[in-house]
Amino acid sequence: GQACPRLLAAMRYGVLSPGKRVRPLLAILTALDFDCDPQELLDFACALELVHCASLILDDLPCMDDARVRRGRNAVHREFDEATATLAAVGLLNQAFGIVAGCDALEISFRNELIQRLSTAVGTSGLVSGQSRDLNDRRSALNHAAVERINHQKTAILFELAVVAGGRYAGVAGARIEALNRFAGHVGLAFQAADDLLDSRAH
Ligand code: IPE
Ligand code: MG
Repeated sequence: GQACPRLLAAMRYGVLSPGKRVRPLLAILTALDFDCDPQELLDFACALELVHCASLILDDLPCMDDARVRRGRNAVHREFDEATATLAAVGLLNQAFGIVAGCDALEISFRNELIQRLSTAVGTSGLVSGQSRDLNDRRSALNHAAVERINHQKTAILFELAVVAGGRYAGVAGARIEALNRFAGHVGLAFQAADDLLDSRAH
């Protein structure tokens, strides 16, 4: 059937805004670092950005962080409306999985691995739990470990996926993947801490 033009416009608006593209870059740079041509990983890298952008759209909603501005422009729910923004996020998330499933240049078993890794990263031990904890536990006095768990689930998980995917694409396995995963997790936590510091200075 025909796609709803307003929904498509909101999805494009949410993705094609001036973001840093850190997650796709991490996947590509990791593959390059192992002397691997990243060409066939580009679609997966884009899928990571779609997932990230979906999470930003939801994060900005009035029922979550209630942010008016994102990437220097109106948040999606202000440029469009809350229902359209919510549906755009679902649409982007769904699109991301379809893109990875359709990466014909990648071996089917590797594609399946990436889809499973993506599902784990977004799912109940990843992004959505991190976001849920961030919203619900925010007011309670959190210790360092609790804050770190939230930041790991809501942010570092996607960094880990980006770097691990780049490594797996380049044929890395076993303990070296574990090491890449730990490295990316630390980068993600540092990234979130820097973002929070910049945020607190702005307010
Ligand atoms: C913002 O992520 C949300 C955090 C996880 C800190 P980015 O800082 O990567 O946002 P964009 O993609 O560049 O807009
Ligand atoms: Mg938030």
